[in-house]
Amino acid sequence: MPPRPPSEVHEKTPTVLFPSSTAAAQALAQEVKTLMEENTRTGRPTVLGLATGSTPVPFYRELIRLHREEKLSFQNVVTFNLDEYYGLPADHPESYARFMREQLFDHIDIPAENINIPSGTIPSDQVFAHCKAYEDKIHAVGGIDLQILGIGRTGHIGFNEPGSSRDSLTRRITLDRVTRQDAASDFRGEQNVPHFAITMGVGTILRARQLVLMAWGENKAAITARAIEGAVSEAVSASFLQDHPNARFFIDTGASRELTRIKLPWLVGPASWTPAETRRAVVWQALKTSRPVLKLIDEDYNEHGLSDLLSEQGPGYQLNIRIFNRLQHTITGWPGGKPDADDTFRPERAKPYPKRCLILSPEPQDAIVGMGGTLDRLIEQGHDVRLIALTSGSLRVPDSEADKFASTLAELGSAVVTPAEWKEQTQYANTILRILDEKGEFGEDPPALRQLKALILRGELRDAAHTLGLTSDRVHLLDLPFYEKGRYRRFHSTPDDLAALVSLLAQHKPHQIYCTGDAADPSSVAGITFRLLETALRQSEGEDWAATCSLWSYRGKEKPLEAHEIDMAVPLSPLQLERKTRSLARYNSLSTLELSIADQNRQHAKDYDALGLAEYEAIEAFQRRSRP
Ligand code: GLP
Repeated sequence: MPPRPPSEVHEKTPTVLFPSSTAAAQALAQEVKTLMEENTRTGRPTVLGLATGSTPVPFYRELIRLHREEKLSFQNVVTFNLDEYYGLPADHPESYARFMREQLFDHIDIPAENINIPSGTIPSDQVFAHCKAYEDKIHAVGGIDLQILGIGRTGHIGFNEPGSSRDSLTRRITLDRVTRQDAASDFRGEQNVPHFAITMGVGTILRARQLVLMAWGENKAAITARAIEGAVSEAVSASFLQDHPNARFFIDTGASRELTRIKLPWLVGPASWTPAETRRAVVWQALKTSRPVLKLIDEDYNEHGLSDLLSEQGPGYQLNIRIFNRLQHTITGWPGGKPDADDTFRPERAKPYPKRCLILSPEPQDAIVGMGGTLDRLIEQGHDVRLIALTSGSLRVPDSEADKFASTLAELGSAVVTPAEWKEQTQYANTILRILDEKGEFGEDPPALRQLKALILRGELRDAAHTLGLTSDRVHLLDLPFYEKGRYRRFHSTPDDLAALVSLLAQHKPHQIYCTGDAADPSSVAGITFRLLETALRQSEGEDWAATCSLWSYRGKEKPLEAHEIDMAVPLSPLQLERKTRSLARYNSLSTLELSIADQNRQHAKDYDALGLAEYEAIEAFQRRSRP
């Protein structure tokens, strides 16, 4: 491999950065195509190790395209999948066997006998022999040419949870709590996620001749950087790639955010001191040395590798004042703009007042999590606020909620009215109870059940919005079709989704839009809806309202913004934070990340305090995506 530039000195596994997951998937698919063509010429099969999860989906789509449009044949390909949930039959909607069929195998010409996936239903006493046979089979075909990998939040590859040794082989393992939490929405509740899986071992994976690990979106940034730049350790099984002679990471912009060359570029080469980079460096230095910005001295700059920043933009004292003022100007209690005030240095313009504010929530809970306090302020300050739940969120609702509702309904029938008067309602309740009974723990939700779950979430959303003073007529439900037709980790948006958003914008003609998902994995609900919004805004460019509309992004369950990235900081009083927390309590099924939002809001306030700004209880943070 060619020598790597000094900026990558901390990266112990070669890492390729791509502008998007699509670009990375295309590059990888081209490599696979070349590999397959070479092997076919020399009369060898191509042995691919495959992964599941949302990450490889764009890569599989590209392989399918190559098959359809460029006649790439998979007749000569043998595949081994990394893992399978233990306890799930191959036709279960969440089994990896079914995932692979739906995402790849059903759309290419691979012979069925060339596909290998560990069995999720092998009896317990045969697991060992099954795993050994899997290893033997990989060996018998000459080993894996190229192993594709994703990465879990615990740093696992396959299902090699922390503690998996470097030499581990295919075996049954117990899933980590974090992994089960991450899979909770796939299974409509953590309680339904299997506890065990069969996975290739780290040793099995490292034996492949070539490895490519893909990662998308900011939520993968921290663990990806740890795997690439941190110590090789059983605590992060992806770090073992550092020991492999031919392993690479393919990552997108979001997932690269924590790499030294992106996060602290001045430590590994000459930095271009743009305003954003300068802000990042000064804030980083202040937080690292625990000194407020205005107390940083020239020695601090020199000791932290920032002497060239000083010589370019110093003296230090002037630089400190500039950055301090910029940070100070991000703070506003008037997210919709302060009427009749000088707005030269305010994040949002004063006029027009009141503003039409459109708050987009990819799933019904996202906006309250990310900006419940700001929503509260916008309403209080007299703006025309609309909260739009872009999808129904029905896939998040556990069966137990539907059961509770249907059982109550059935009982109400006999308790308050005569059975004849209650006939239809009782029938409906019994249908739901029967569906729940028949589909069992892991079955797919038929439309009637999904509809009820969506209604339950609607009720929770209305309730949560009321707590913040938003009446039902200001809460809208878009029910985007991609969500209704899809499943987590494999959603696919269509022109109907885009049309729904374009007409929403045309109807409301907003002055301000709040949204999230710009930094999310592009295949997540927030990632998909953000990209749809971008396209819808591009399509609306000629409209009058579009020229005067500002776009703000908030973070919900994604990685929080760092202090230097914040363009608008809306302080929350202790009372407002309490109101937000109370409004979140209206939701029955929030993830641990969503539940910890108050801590994130407090952390923003602590950072601002540490930088020498005013001390608040909590802050909701926003980034400007576009301004009029
Ligand atoms: C599961 C799979 C891994 C995958 C991970 C991340 O744990 N066993 O192979 O890498 O999920 O999934 P996603 O790509 O959806 O983020």
